[in-house]
Amino acid sequence: MSKYWNSKINSATPYVAGEQPKPGQKVIKLNTNENPYPPSPKVREVLQDFDISDLRLYPNTGSDIVRDAVASVYGLSRENIFVGNGSDEVLALCWQTFFEKEYNTGKSVLVPDISYSFYPVFSSFYDVRCESVPLREDFFIDPSDYCGRDCCGIAIANPNAPTARLISLDDIRKILDSNPDVPVLIDEAYADFAEGYESAASLIGEYENLIVVMTLSKSYSLAGIRMGFAMGSSELIEGLTMARDSFNSYPGDRVAQKVAEAAILDREYWDRTRKAIIATRKWTSDELRKLGFQLTDSQANFVWAKPPAQIDAQTLYNSLKSKGILIRYFNKPSISDHVRITIGTDDEMKALIDAIREEL
Ligand SMILES: Cc1ncc(COP(=O)(O)O)c(C=O)c1O
Repeated sequence: MSKYWNSKINSATPYVAGEQPKPGQKVIKLNTNENPYPPSPKVREVLQDFDISDLRLYPNTGSDIVRDAVASVYGLSRENIFVGNGSDEVLALCWQTFFEKEYNTGKSVLVPDISYSFYPVFSSFYDVRCESVPLREDFFIDPSDYCGRDCCGIAIANPNAPTARLISLDDIRKILDSNPDVPVLIDEAYADFAEGYESAASLIGEYENLIVVMTLSKSYSLAGIRMGFAMGSSELIEGLTMARDSFNSYPGDRVAQKVAEAAILDREYWDRTRKAIIATRKWTSDELRKLGFQLTDSQANFVWAKPPAQIDAQTLYNSLKSKGILIRYFNKPSISDHVRITIGTDDEMKALIDAIREEL
């Protein structure tokens, strides 16, 4: 609290990111869903060839080379793509652009009650009323809970985090069909790790109220450059651009734009590394189940696991931390009996399983 802060900041409850190790500290970091592999080798080429005199100049405002790369991957046009400084920024701009202020309508944006914990933070920061819709007992999102509701918008992570559960395109269609007059946001941060899932971006031609948000932090291994994007009808993208230009016209710097373009276009590397993570996820899930953990069927680059009776989630988190392995524990009533574990390399996951076995 400070007398120099306005009332908004004095009453804010910010998002708490997963802990970062101290510089030089050696840990196995399985707590923030980063990719264990380096980015595409094309990224190194871009950095080696980068002409630093270009840094004198402001970057292209829209990150158009990134928009074109995304458009080619998803079969869309540049007008359907918006690029921001990490998908957190893109999501924040979506909240400001699409969801009406509580004092204007009194209506809520609907979000799953267990989901990305930034959604309620954005809601409260941008004065949007947020209604948490309970998940089914097995952590599934029931699409009918989002149908026939008088809301100002819907935001769903698919696969959801931290539960790792996926809903189908048919379910997303049901939600869109039932809500033609409000924006429906699908956050696909982890969708590249879902087997047999086609991005909801494939529905953009049919639904002008659909906005799909994606990040380069996970499947492209570029959390360090901060790039994310949204895909939707040109009407929605124009709205986001207006919000951006009322806030920061240059969200993507020159280096990040070139790096992002190269990584997105290297389809072979993207596919190989995401498949490696899917294979390691399967191995890790099998090993954890053998040790008595209960897991959802993960379609993300992490698993959502309930430890066996011998050890509770918080004790497991603390004991792994003392052994130099960071996982994520959420001290919130409905989920405090689970831990979220990012999929690392095969060696990292073997070290994790050995450490857990020792603990049990
Ligand atoms: C569901 C979800 N959406 C968005 C993000 C934000 O990713 P970034 O800001 O790195 O693009 C995260 C980060 O972990 C996430 O879990």
